[in-house]
Order: sequence, then C-alpha cells, then structure tokens
Amino acid sequence: MSNNDDKLNILVFTCNWCAYAGADLAGVSRLQMPTEFRQIRTMCSARVDPEFILYAFKNGADGVMVAGCHPGDCHYIGGNYRTRRRMALLKLLLQQFGLNPKRFRLEWVSAGEGQKFAQVINEFVNEIKELGPSPYRKKQEVRDAG
Ligand code: FES
Repeated sequence: MSNNDDKLNILVFTCNWCAYAGADLAGVSRLQMPTEFRQIRTMCSARVDPEFILYAFKNGADGVMVAGCHPGDCHYIGGNYRTRRRMALLKLLLQQFGLNPKRFRLEWVSAGEGQKFAQVINEFVNEIKELGPSPYRKKQEVRDAG
C-alpha cells in the first residue's frame, strides 16, 4: 500500500476572470474547504482542452472539475459556450473509458460567488470520496510497483 492510497487527486481548472476570483473570495472569506484539490488557473474555461482532462485521468486524477464564468459572462464572449459543448462530449467519452462520469464536473462560478465555489468544491470532493480512487490510478500503482 502506498502512502497516497487515502489521498485523493482532484484537479480544478478555474478561469482567471470568474471562477478563480470566486475561489479567491472563498479563501479570503475563510470558508471551509477540503484540502484534497489542486487548482489550475487558465485564462478561460475554453482553454481547457478535453485532452488535458483525459491526460489527468490517465495519470491518476480521481476527479476533475472545470469552473468558468456563467454563460453569457465569459470575458472572451463565447468561450464558455464552447466549453459546455466540449465537456458534454467529454462526459460521454469518459463513460466509454469506464470512468464514472461523476468524476468530472463543469460549474459556473462568478467572481462574487465565493460561497458557491466553496459549496461546489465541498460537494465534489465528497462525491469523489464516496467513489474512491479512480480505477486508472489503481492500474497506474500496479504498473509502478511492478
Ligand atoms: Fe471565464 Fe471564459 S473567461 S469562462
């Protein structure tokens, strides 16, 4: 058993203009959030290529969330509409790869929604805890041990 067995790997992509600022607000407001997630800031949710998410799962992520501006509020006009379409397809693809689609989540969080950011993070981390480590992580650990 490795030391990482009970530590979940959860990635949260946040767009610079809304979700990242919402996460920052949650932090400065000292809202309670789990420590199991790591945040990656991108300029727009549309910058998150679905390939990044597949790569993350392939390399042991237990859950991935993409958080961007609310529809209509994207600072690059239609970026998050593209994100919404891409991520819907990605969810279908994850099922094809044998991953529970609950391991991936798309959320809209504005800069003023620190409370919402904390809430969705808490919900998502709890959901991933219930699902346990990704089946891909288990395979990776077997490969690493062998
Ligand atoms: Fe936030 Fe595009 S800038 S989703």
